[in-house]
Amino acid sequence: MAVHIVPAQVADIHQVLANHSRYWGDRDLRSLHLLALVQEFGSTCLVARAEDGIRGYLIGFVTPDGTGYVHLIATRDDARGTGLGRDLYAAFTAAARAQGAVRLKAITSVANEGSVAFHRGLGFEARVEEDYNGPGMPMVVFTRALPATP
Ligand SMILES: CC(C)(COP(=O)(O)OP(=O)(O)OC[C@H]1O[C@@H](n2cnc3c(N)ncnc32)[C@H](O)[C@@H]1OP(=O)(O)O)[C@@H](O)C(=O)NCCC(=O)NCCS
Repeated sequence: MAVHIVPAQVADIHQVLANHSRYWGDRDLRSLHLLALVQEFGSTCLVARAEDGIRGYLIGFVTPDGTGYVHLIATRDDARGTGLGRDLYAAFTAAARAQGAVRLKAITSVANEGSVAFHRGLGFEARVEEDYNGPGMPMVVFTRALPATP
């Protein structure tokens, strides 16, 4: 079944939220799905569409200093391990480069071992930043440089 990675519409995020557990399991991350990000950073918010719905998505943007920041990425439970997360990152990287990004960044909770393995597999460096969310509230910070020529 063909999968197309395209810019996300607000309606796509509503569709994802209606099936939230298929992307995030028991964790409730609905409040992080800020529709303003999709409205304002249209070309760096992506969905992977197939006939059977949204297989995965990525919400990201490029900061003024050239950081392509990935706020959320998830693939549907039946689409994992197929390379879709990697493909979403590749599409985001191309869109972010077009806006001048020279590095990529993402964060995840220290308990999210799958996300750490995934980002390491994509060539990110991972480090724990102890006070990222405030005193005593650590997050794992992922960074990867984007070479000048792809
Ligand atoms: C993390 C997530 C997006 C990965 O998506 P995916 O489509 O399964 O990833 P891919 O199939 O593209 O995998 C890319 C590479 O990462 C590795 N990888 C992915 N998930 C992994 C895991 N849980 N453990 C170990 N390695 C993993 C794959 O083996 C692959 O490596 P390879 O290309 O060398 O074989 C997906 O598991 C997910 O949606 N998880 C729930 C939401 C989440 O936690 N998101 C991240 C936090 S923002």
